[in-house]
Order: sequence, then structure tokens, then C-alpha cells
Amino acid sequence: MKRKIAVLGGTGDLGFGLVLRFAVAGEEVIIGSRKQEKALRRANDANEILKKYTKNRVKGMVNNEAVKVADVSFLTVPYPYHTKTVEGLKENFKEGSILVSTIVPMVKGKYGLKPVLSKEGSVANEIRKVTPTHVRVASAFHNVGAAAVQDLNRREINCDIIVCGEKEAKKVVMELVRLIPGLRPIDGGPLENSVIPEVITPLLVNHVITLKTGPLGVKITNLNFTAEKLIEIYKEKGLI
Ligand SMILES: NC(=O)c1ccc[n+]([C@@H]2O[C@H](COP(=O)([O-])OP(=O)(O)OC[C@H]3O[C@@H](n4cnc5c(N)ncnc54)[C@H](OP(=O)(O)O)[C@@H]3O)[C@@H](O)[C@H]2O)c1
Repeated sequence: MKRKIAVLGGTGDLGFGLVLRFAVAGEEVIIGSRKQEKALRRANDANEILKKYTKNRVKGMVNNEAVKVADVSFLTVPYPYHTKTVEGLKENFKEGSILVSTIVPMVKGKYGLKPVLSKEGSVANEIRKVTPTHVRVASAFHNVGAAAVQDLNRREINCDIIVCGEKEAKKVVMELVRLIPGLRPIDGGPLENSVIPEVITPLLVNHVITLKTGPLGVKITNLNFTAEKLIEIYKEKGLI
């Protein structure tokens, strides 16, 4: 199904990659920026790259115009500017649209990058708090490197994408993840569980820096195994 997708901060590393990937998949994509001129310039850049892969072309708009028309908006701005950005846009979101957080809360620590634990349980919860109730919220793409997403010659990214959020929003985002070759969506549960993928990323980035390898990603294993025995054990332990 063709949807209008806006990538807010789509001029940057991760956002630009998502713009390219969704455009190659045939979706209608808008690059959002705080500045009109920058949005148009990066849309030109994207369209130059896309020539080789698809006839589909992207548009550039300021963020608050983009969210007025988008069915799904991806928030790809740096931490900790996520809530301020959403607050600045909240009057403009299209009725019934979906907002997807990609935000990773991490800062420089003594031993490399370290996660920041949100007082709201997760950054996705923080975003839910400042987003109008007619917009459904989800989170995804925390654990995939922008370099891999941008590289259209790398057909398969080979990574799992943990998707958290409100039920209907999560379903749509999982469909969108499947459009990108090599990515497999994993249902990560409600918005509060978004803390799980949010805190994994510093581990990946620290390895990229120290081992000079990457871009790294996560993969959940043995999803095809039957687990009746394990389920019995979880029941005995009162976990379910
Ligand atoms: N990079 C990755 O590999 C990666 C992977 C997973 C998740 N993430 C998450 O994705 C988000 C974006 O990461 P990134 O590396 O793509 O970021 P980035 O390139 O540093 O910035 C993305 C865009 O955000 C906008 N921006 C910059 N400062 C801002 C501010 N103070 N307020 C509002 N907008 C601002 C800019 O767009 P305009 O100037 O055009 O408005 C910029 O091009 C982050 O939260 C990060 O944790 C990144």
C-alpha cells in the first residue's frame, strides 16, 4: 500500500537512509527539515542517488508542513531534542497519523558511550507524553547503522528491527520494516518496552569504535524453534 511517509530530520544520517530505502520500495517520501532550503537540497541529493534504482522521487518540506500530510512520520533528530521537536509540531500532525521514534538516548561516558535511562520508562514514552492523542506512537530502527541503511548497493542489511508501540501503529511500522531487504521486524511490545532497543545501541557503537568493525546490528536467534518446554518453565516461575 502506498502511504505518505515523512522523515523528520531526514537530512541527517539515519533519516536520509530511511528516505532512500522507502523511496526504492515505492513509497511516497518527504524529507523533513527545520529549514525549507535544506529540505529541498537534500531531496535533490536523494533524487540524484535514486535515479540509478527507481523512477520514484522524493520531496523536501519543512517538518511542520511534512507532518500535516504524512500518514507515518519518522522522528530522526538527535537526542535530547526529540520532545522539543515534537512539541513544536504538535498542532500540525495529520489526524490519525503515526509517529515513529528512532531516538537512542546515549551520551559520552568515562568508558565510551553509555545509555541514559528515561524517567518516563523509555524515550518512546516521553514522546507519547507530548504527542497529541489522535496520533499513534511507535518506535523502531534503534539498532541499525545509518551507513548500512544508506548503502543501496548493500541489498541485504541482515538485522532485526525491534518495533514497540501502540498496536495499530506497530502493525504498520512492522510492514514498513519488511520493505527494506534483509530487515526483519520483531514485535518488541508496548512503548514502555522501547527502553530495550534504546539501551542496546551504545553497545553496538562502542564496538564499532573499539573494534573498528561494523555497522553492527542485532539478531534474535531460534525464532523458528518450538518452545513448549520453555513456556512450562516460565509458567512455573510465575513469569507468565
Ligand atoms: N546514525 C545512526 O546510525 C542511528 C542509528 C539508530 C538510531 N539513530 C537515532 O536517530 C536519530 C538521528 O540520528 P542521526 O545520526 O541521523 O542524527 P544527525 O544526522 O546528527 O541529525 C539528524 C537531523 O536532525 C536535525 N537536527 C539537528 N539538530 C537538531 C535540533 N537541535 N533540533 C531538531 N532537529 C535537529 C538536522 O536536520 P535539519 O537541520 O535539516 O532540521 C539533522 O540533519 C538520533 O536520535 C539517533 O539516536 C541513529
